[in-house]
Amino acid sequence: MRWGVAPSGSHYFAAFPFPFYNRLTAPDLADLWAFLKRVPAVRQPNRAGHPLWFAALRNAVAVSVTPFPGPWRPDPERDAVWNRGAYLVATVGRCGDCHTPRDWLGAPDRTRFLAGGSGNDGKPSPNITPDDATGIGSWSSDDIVNLLKTGQKPDFDFVGGAMGEIVDATSKLTDADRHAIAVYLKSLPPIRSATAAKKE
Ligand code: HEC
Repeated sequence: MRWGVAPSGSHYFAAFPFPFYNRLTAPDLADLWAFLKRVPAVRQPNRAGHPLWFAALRNAVAVSVTPFPGPWRPDPERDAVWNRGAYLVATVGRCGDCHTPRDWLGAPDRTRFLAGGSGNDGKPSPNITPDDATGIGSWSSDDIVNLLKTGQKPDFDFVGGAMGEIVDATSKLTDADRHAIAVYLKSLPPIRSATAAKKE
């Protein structure tokens, strides 16, 4: 789960979000594994092997997994709440998977962290940095907490699509964890989006 490598040494295709799970702490990975071991076993044949292009892609992924930084380390300059939020966003929340734009190679553009992505299935993911004009600068931390709990935005509309699935998961977090994510998002440097096709 950390490096995307099977027991046989081959690399898994990155349908599983390795860049994010790579950053989980060892105790959290161990807890996840302990939970999986307790899920009742189901006997079901795996789907047939993948075509060749898939193998080529897998090799490309093998290259791209190499620079993963490993377990996330807390920032000693920040308090525990901020660090908890940063950890959840960097790992299981995988917010950057959709909300950070990618370069032409598909790698996330780290200079525009969470400033909005084009979206895999057409629906763009909005800028969630605290920029007033093109991000969520006008949202309070309670607004963010409420979105992560119920899917409802400050304009009373509900998020849908890919974010709806994320809210299914964040609605199961504790209030303290949702608050930590809000504190962290509010602390980010605001980034202005060039294509500001948003704001109600
Ligand atoms: C799988 C892709 C995906 C992931 C992962 C994801 N989001 Fe989103 N998010 C979206 C999309 C797409 C929208 C727009 C949904 C809509 O408007 O119906 C959105 C909307 C939002 C909004 C509303 C912004 C606005 O201006 O309307 C917030 C806030 C948000 N996401 C925060 C997060 C946080 C925090 C995380 C990590 C815990 C996260 N998202 C993870 C795809 C994603």
